[in-house]
Amino acid sequence: MAEATSRGIGPVILLGSPGAGKGTQAKQIVEHYSIPQISTGDLLRENVQRGTPLGVLAKDVMARGELVPDDLMYDMVAQRLRQEDCERGFILDGFPRNPAQAGWLDAFLEHEFFDKAQRDQCLPIVIRIDVDYNRLLRRITGRRSCPVCGRIYNVYSQPPRVADKCDVDGSTLVTRDDDREEVIRGRLTAYEQQTKPVAGYYARKGRLVSVNGDLPVDQVTEQSFRVIESHRNGAPGEN
Ligand code: AP5
Repeated sequence: MAEATSRGIGPVILLGSPGAGKGTQAKQIVEHYSIPQISTGDLLRENVQRGTPLGVLAKDVMARGELVPDDLMYDMVAQRLRQEDCERGFILDGFPRNPAQAGWLDAFLEHEFFDKAQRDQCLPIVIRIDVDYNRLLRRITGRRSCPVCGRIYNVYSQPPRVADKCDVDGSTLVTRDDDREEVIRGRLTAYEQQTKPVAGYYARKGRLVSVNGDLPVDQVTEQSFRVIESHRNGAPGEN
């Protein structure tokens, strides 16, 4: 663990369809490598909850399961990535979501993030979590999360010890507004049409590695750690 936390690992991008397990894996990586998780979905939901101008604009779009316009995303992501805790690396969960966002991120990292001396060590590694389409609906409809600590549960595969209560702090678990079946279809369509091509974008740059997300959580985590470690040791991604 000392080894895991003492060196920066640069940006880690988690790709995958709604319900693939990006948030679940991000939390394992946070714990192991002590770098922050930046979930654009969580940041947007916070804005909606606080009623900020961004939240007001994003609310209806998210309720339909569509993507929030790119220009609204860029300021929010840039502000977060400029914070000091991102210097050793960070996990992006839910961003980039289309090839335009991927291009924007590359330009941002090039101009604002990389310490030139360490550039080669810090290129983003992109982990795509592949999950069989038929499992996704059950994962999403079964999801519950803690509004206080953010821990994610699933009533089918990872239930809390006491029904509807967080194991960590006892808070009552909640269901996300966009986890209703009629919205889920819109989210899956947005993923198929707009986000899937992002994998091709990174594969062409040799930065994409896929993991089997159908396996139990700890086995997906093991695969993800292996990917991060081989990336640190200079192994290329898939082409
Ligand atoms: P966002 O919050 O990013 O949602 P999403 O991409 O749809 O992803 P989810 O959070 O649903 O799934 P996940 O992969 O994190 O799965 P989880 O780990 O929770 O985005 C929401 C909305 O915000 C978008 O629709 C859009 O409107 C907007 N938005 C966000 N980013 C944007 C952007 N960049 N541009 C424009 N708009 C943007 O796991 C799911 C369930 O499965 C859980 O219950 C978990 O316990 C369970 N589970 C996880 N792994 C396993 C496993 N291995 N085995 C069994 N169960 C598992």
